[in-house]
Amino acid sequence: MRTFGPRWFKTDSLIAEYSDHFGQAITRQKQSLALNAAKVEAELASKAKSEFIANMSHELRTPLNAIIGFSDMLSTLKISEPARVSQYSGYIKQAADHLLALINGILDVTKIQAGSMVIERQAIDIAPIVESCLLIIEAKAKEKDIMVASEIDVELPQLYADPLRIKQILINLLGNAVKFTPSKGRVGFLASPASEGFVSLTISDNGTGMTVGDIETAMRPFGQVDSGFNKKHEGTGLGLPISAALAKLHGGSLTLNSEKGKGTRVTVFLPVYDRNHHPENAQRRH
Ligand SMILES: Nc1ncnc2c1ncn2[C@@H]1O[C@H](COP(=O)(O)OP(=O)(O)OP(=O)(O)O)[C@@H](O)[C@H]1O
Ligand SMILES: [Mg+2]
Repeated sequence: MRTFGPRWFKTDSLIAEYSDHFGQAITRQKQSLALNAAKVEAELASKAKSEFIANMSHELRTPLNAIIGFSDMLSTLKISEPARVSQYSGYIKQAADHLLALINGILDVTKIQAGSMVIERQAIDIAPIVESCLLIIEAKAKEKDIMVASEIDVELPQLYADPLRIKQILINLLGNAVKFTPSKGRVGFLASPASEGFVSLTISDNGTGMTVGDIETAMRPFGQVDSGFNKKHEGTGLGLPISAALAKLHGGSLTLNSEKGKGTRVTVFLPVYDRNHHPENAQRRH
């Protein structure tokens, strides 16, 4: 059996001592870095939260003030002014609808941020969902004489997704496309297989488009770009960030390409249903 003399023993213990010190120094350094990173992250999160609350309060106050103002005016109207009564009631209804949409959106955003948004995934066909979304935007598109073309690949596999949430994403994206496209424009929908067990849903328009800075604004909660085309507050500014977060919750993603004055293309990647392997942990990297 091989034995080590005192010299070896000393060298070994020295190396052990050095590596021990070295290890401790690295651990200390790592802990301090982690502590700093956590501090910065917490500061950012708290700043983002305060900004969100400030924005939210502002957004809620606007329609509420309209409701209070028009109700006051309504209460002072004479019975002989039915046209005014109907006009003011219309404004109140509009503001109340906006308020409800805002509250629903805020609930979704806070649920997503708290990590408590539950999605109920199942095998779904996209065609009937797209059809019902197109029906919803049809009236607005007709009003603006916008042509809407939709194409679904015949080979398209089923998706593994929550049908209600997919509908929510598509109504917002198709709604945006119609809303931000001038009269006689074009809106398109295309569903086709993508790589790595994913399907891509693309919504395109030849409307107002956005600059790179505008896109950053648009992806933030309450971010609405002043295009000079659409009056502010037709919408809540929550649709895009919620759609992106919902796509991510499905293990997919949402990408937005746009050019000012040319149009916008939004692509949503969603996982395909695989009866052998539920793509529970599938993550698409972009
Ligand atoms: N297809 C598009 N073309 C041009 N601008 C767009 C398009 N889609 C979104 N935007 C810009 O991004 C902003 C944010 O869009 P988002 O869907 O989040 O909110 P919104 O449509 O204003 O309100 P809502 O919460 O009702 O969806 C819009 O207000 C608009 O300025
Ligand atoms: Mg929208």
